[in-house]
Amino acid sequence: MSHDLFEAAVAAMKHAHAPYSKFPVGAALRTEDGRIFSGCNIEVASYPEGWCAETTALGQYIMGGGGRITGIAVVAERMHRITPCGGCRQRLAEFADADTKLFLCDDTGVVETVTMGEMLPYGFKGSILK
Ligand code: THU
Repeated sequence: MSHDLFEAAVAAMKHAHAPYSKFPVGAALRTEDGRIFSGCNIEVASYPEGWCAETTALGQYIMGGGGRITGIAVVAERMHRITPCGGCRQRLAEFADADTKLFLCDDTGVVETVTMGEMLPYGFKGSILK
């Protein structure tokens, strides 16, 4: 089950626009009805304006209709077992559950599986704003 997410993340990584960092990243997430959404990092010459692979995948997910997220995979060409940055943890937590599985990958496949709750303990919850 995690392997196809890994494959989707690797395929997305090939689209990375990372001419400045030369650090391509791919992310893929699955909804409970089996749809897969993926994304790559997109850098901009004005560096702070670029964004992460997870964020691109979330944009695809929202435009594709959203839904309950059951798994997320992240891979980076140049890093063994990449973990999402702090901002992406918060963005992923907006749509995933604490028990959603996060598959941390290297170029061979899933290296470690953790939950979103483990990735973002004590994260800010927006429920109070509603
Ligand atoms: N990056 C991601 O795409 N996801 C992360 O979770 C960490 C970092 C990207 C942003 C930037 O394009 C490059 O990796 C180097 O920081």
